[in-house]
Formats: sequence, structure tokens, C-alpha cells
Amino acid sequence: MLNIVLNVNGTNYDISVAPSDTLARVLREKLGFTEVKNGCENGECGSCTVLLDGKAIVSCLMLAAKAAGREIMTSRGLAKAGKLHVLQEKFTEQDAIQCGYCTPGMLMSAKALLDTNPHPTEEEIRMAISGNLCRCTGYQQIVDAIEATARQRLLACALLSQTPAQDRGTKIPDRGARESDGRRSSNGD
Ligand code: FES
Ligand code: FES
Repeated sequence: MLNIVLNVNGTNYDISVAPSDTLARVLREKLGFTEVKNGCENGECGSCTVLLDGKAIVSCLMLAAKAAGREIMTSRGLAKAGKLHVLQEKFTEQDAIQCGYCTPGMLMSAKALLDTNPHPTEEEIRMAISGNLCRCTGYQQIVDAIEATARQRLLACALLSQTPAQDRGTKIPDRGARESDGRRSSNGD
């Protein structure tokens, strides 16, 4: 057995694993992250998708020992302080969840996409989730949910950029502080 530390959703877990244990099995069976589904265990369905250092991977093809010391995120790590992640909200609003079996993996593929490409085209979305099989929705609601997430984020950024710095809580240095930085004030004194 190997003694390793797995960092899952920001928490370190000391654990003993066999060299042949897959990350999916260890997450589900030893650590209780049952949102990671073990559908095909063959890299074909995407239901076991998690993020490893921000990249979407199928955890049934990854040895747990190889994930030691790296950052693993499951769909459980998306919600913060009891508030759903916007992707989770949009999946719910757009009826992108039916039986829900594919949803945890689908959410992680969507997150990996939007983290690197905040405004993807429909084709890019379909490509990003092409490794995640869904037997229920026909995919359109899932694509709609990911597009809606991208739109909401764009809107939030636009609103933030229009908000005066004071209202965003940004500290505006007072005049004395500006002058003590060695910069001249705007009236030239
Ligand atoms: S269980 Fe990993 S891809 Fe199907
Ligand atoms: S919602 Fe049932 S498999 Fe996708």
C-alpha cells in the first residue's frame, strides 16, 4: 500500500491506496465523494469527470497515487458557503438535469471550459462536453445552460466595470497618500 495525501475540494486527506487503485474508486469508495460516478470505468462515458489542477480528466483512468499533491475538484466543490455555483443554477433553470447521473461530470467539463474560454461558441461547448454521455436530455438543455452561464458572467463583469470604485469597496487613496507615493497631484502642486 502507498500512503498519499489527496487534496479534494481544498481539503487534504491522508489515505492508503493500492498502486492499482483508480482515482475514481478512491474518491467514491474511500473518501465518500459519491458524486463522482463510476459509469463505464473505461474512459468512455465521462461520468467520473473531475478537475485535476483545473483540467477536466476522467478519474477512472487516473491512478490515485498519480493525483497525490495535486488539486482535485469534484462537483461538490462548486457551491461555496451554501450558495450554488452559477453553472448549477443554470443547469437547474434550463432543465439540463433529468436523471442526474451525468450531471456531476458534465458540470466539471463545463467549468473547465468556461475557466479557459469564458465566451465559447455552441460548437466549442459541444466539443468540450463531447466526452460526457447523457442518455436523457438530448444535450440541447445542457448547451443552453452553459451558454446562459457565460452570458450571466459577461453581464456581471459589465455591471462591475460600470460600478464606481467606491461602491465596489476599492480603497481610493487620499490626496496625502498619493503625494507621499512620490506622484504629483493633478493640480500641479
Ligand atoms: S466511468 Fe470514467 S469515463 Fe466512464
Ligand atoms: S440527465 Fe440522465 S444521463 Fe444525463
